[in-house]
Amino acid sequence: MKKMIRIGLLGAGTVGTGTARVLNLNQHEIAERVGTSIEVSKVLVRNPDKERPGFEGIAKTSRFENILGDPEIDIIVELMGGLHPAKEYMLQALAAGKRVVTANKDVIAQFGHELFAMAAEHETEIFFEASVGGGIPIITPLKECLTANHITQIMGIVNGTTNYMLTKMSECGNDYDTVLREAQQKGYAEADPTADVGGLDAARKAVILSSIAFNSRVQLEDVSVEGITNITPDDIAYAKDLGYVVKLLAVGKDTEDGIDVRVHPVFLPQSHPLAAVNGVYNAIFVHGNAIGDAMFYGQGAGSLPTASAVVADIMRAAHDICQDQLSSVGCTCYEQKPICPLEKTSSCYYVRLLVDDEPGVLAAIATAFGEAGVSLKSVIQTRQNVVDHAEIVAITHKVLHEKMQQAMKTIRGLKVVDEVRNIIRVENGEDD
Ligand code: NAP
Ligand code: HSE
Repeated sequence: MKKMIRIGLLGAGTVGTGTARVLNLNQHEIAERVGTSIEVSKVLVRNPDKERPGFEGIAKTSRFENILGDPEIDIIVELMGGLHPAKEYMLQALAAGKRVVTANKDVIAQFGHELFAMAAEHETEIFFEASVGGGIPIITPLKECLTANHITQIMGIVNGTTNYMLTKMSECGNDYDTVLREAQQKGYAEADPTADVGGLDAARKAVILSSIAFNSRVQLEDVSVEGITNITPDDIAYAKDLGYVVKLLAVGKDTEDGIDVRVHPVFLPQSHPLAAVNGVYNAIFVHGNAIGDAMFYGQGAGSLPTASAVVADIMRAAHDICQDQLSSVGCTCYEQKPICPLEKTSSCYYVRLLVDDEPGVLAAIATAFGEAGVSLKSVIQTRQNVVDHAEIVAITHKVLHEKMQQAMKTIRGLKVVDEVRNIIRVENGEDD
């Protein structure tokens, strides 16, 4: 049994600092549970001269070779973020036979298969629990605890930044830029928040979850992605009036037409369990044919919650080193299922239009929907906050995406329609 397991930490930012803190805070319990002590031996940063509270007495370097070439280091913990050089560093670490722990959803979503293959080839392991859902256990439950199930659906709020922003916009009426700044200050948003607000961060998590749940590799380009940048306070106000909340959802379904994976904002009924998931909290629903519905809930971003998952992975890697075993479940993509085209997916929709305020407008719009085979559930016409025009808000019954596209093409061409202000899916409406 090794007396001490040494870590090379790549990155000392939000999650790196949290990881060092959890290892220090719970060092006695961790040592008892693993059967050996764990210490951070070296840290890779861009600027080793910067003062870094929490890393006093630990060697800092900007050269990865100093960590890779250190035979005392057993586990490399990648918390730098980004695709490159994170991917190359992890590949090199695995090729050197070291265990790797990462929170990097970008690399796992895009190059996971290469990393798993490298780990298998060199009889080592890679752990990535923190890459989805921050502190929420979801990767291990999917790969291990729920492995007896045929999973047909995953639906979740998997981006803390956008959930925090939508919650603040809804509860306090704050504007988009203010809430984005707050999310960045709290360390939830990525260094470049475009991926958060544009839905790409959630899409990467959808790729990871769907690939594991459906045992078939899903690629980023298979995901239909829409972020929250077009969501306005007016949409949030209409949602409230109609009994909904606006959430950014990642949806993965194993359908007869193939795997349907999408990320987009949705109107969720206020009574839906995911509607109560607020702030930086994430939640992931899983439907399996044995367990039925299961929901995983917790903080999806932030320093200590994410470090909770990272340190658990470090402990498992350390335990495996001590036992001289490989306990992790490697790549589980043993099938090659087709991807369901977006046109073949169906949903209810919320549509908000700016129109001329004159007789016959409503009829023209209803006709356009009807001729495309789109059935309307409710329609509101209002002149609130609109000058010389009217605003029409319609909620449709469940309809094929291609029929909705056809209706919207006609509506956009109507002379009386000045602007299509928004189209948002309505998930789990009466028709679902
Ligand atoms: P961060 O605060 O931006 O920290 C990144 C750290 O990595 C910094 O210490 C930086 O060094 C170092 N670094 C980056 N590129 C480097 C390079 N090329 N060479 C050397 N050092 C480099 O990032 P974070 O928020 O902790 O996120 C880390 C990872 O965790 C990402 O993959 C992210 O997606 C994932 N994650 C984050 C959260 C969250 O809540 N933040 C939650 C779940 C998962 P300097 O300090 O010298 O700049
Ligand atoms: N930026 C991400 C989020 C961090 O807001 O959820 C966790 O992956």
